[in-house]
Amino acid sequence: MQHNLARTLSLIAERGSAGFYDGPVAELIVAEMRKGGGLITHRDLAAYTARVRQPVSTTFRGHVVYGPPPPSSGGTVLAETLNILERFPLREQGRYSATTLHLMSEAMRRSYLDRARHIGDPDQVAIPGHLTSKEYAASLADSIDPERATPSVSLAGELPIVGESESTTHFSIIDGHGMAVANTYTLEDSFGSRVVVRGGGFLLNDEMGDFNWKPGHTDTQGTIGTEANTIAPGKRMLSSQCPVIVTRHGEPVLVTGSPGGRTIINTVACIVLNALEFEMSPVQAVDASRMHHQWLPDELRLESRSAGSPPLPSERLKEMGHRVKEVTRQGDAHTIARDPQTGLLTGVADRRRGGKAAGPD
Ligand code: DON
Repeated sequence: MQHNLARTLSLIAERGSAGFYDGPVAELIVAEMRKGGGLITHRDLAAYTARVRQPVSTTFRGHVVYGPPPPSSGGTVLAETLNILERFPLREQGRYSATTLHLMSEAMRRSYLDRARHIGDPDQVAIPGHLTSKEYAASLADSIDPERATPSVSLAGELPIVGESESTTHFSIIDGHGMAVANTYTLEDSFGSRVVVRGGGFLLNDEMGDFNWKPGHTDTQGTIGTEANTIAPGKRMLSSQCPVIVTRHGEPVLVTGSPGGRTIINTVACIVLNALEFEMSPVQAVDASRMHHQWLPDELRLESRSAGSPPLPSERLKEMGHRVKEVTRQGDAHTIARDPQTGLLTGVADRRRGGKAAGPD
């Protein structure tokens, strides 16, 4: 059967959407789906009909804005965003002022949360009517701090946010006999190469990127092409994993490690220094703002300090010739510290990505 786009379109014109979903075009679709192992059948297609729905609308500065209704979230989320923003005199602030960009992002953050929380196929999901109401927008506008970004997770309320990252993971253990394990394991990217070994129940990694994949090419952006880690038969790729056990008089006093690619080693360096040099408590050592310099790119990454902490000396560092870049988060270093005097074990789940400390009571 020879078909082309013109024929498909004329079929739709002749028969309306029914021609599309249960006629010869459906044959083509199902054949194509089958080739790819798809699950959709003729019956599914025949049961599908286009639906005509009322648009979502709102008003904004004397205009009416119409947008698509669910199952598109477009109209609802746009209306909610505009309703929030009309509470602020954005024009006075200028399109690219920090205030405008801040308010826009706060409004977007809130309406996209509602998108996640409530919106789906309206034939199957009850979508609350208040999302596009002006009263609701007013309450959301009131929740915006004009000076500070609201952490998205803090808005989630009842929604469970998975704290677990999809990437490299570290855990630290000390058992009742004082035996310690620091374990970092990596598949590189989320789900590695996304290939599960049938019957094996485990994923294959995609670690090849840990080799210097551009031999001879070392640049200021941080691509490294040095010989030591270029790909060769039988060679193992360079890793930055850094699970660490620190002992004193033969007893473990600190077990730590982290995910984070090339930042891993510096995350661990920060924690070891915090504990051993700056004599911080275990919680302080893990919480404290981290830093990272990896030679190239020639920049000093400083992790922002939590609200209320004294500011970092970024300006002074810039005067000293550092290219300073602030980052929101570095690593996830679940750590155990053991007090050498009392033997007390303190497990610290890093707050950055979420985790849990556990032990006998
Ligand atoms: O072994 C390494 O250095 C990398 N495969 C680690 C990647 C990683 O930590 C990504 N997760 N944050």
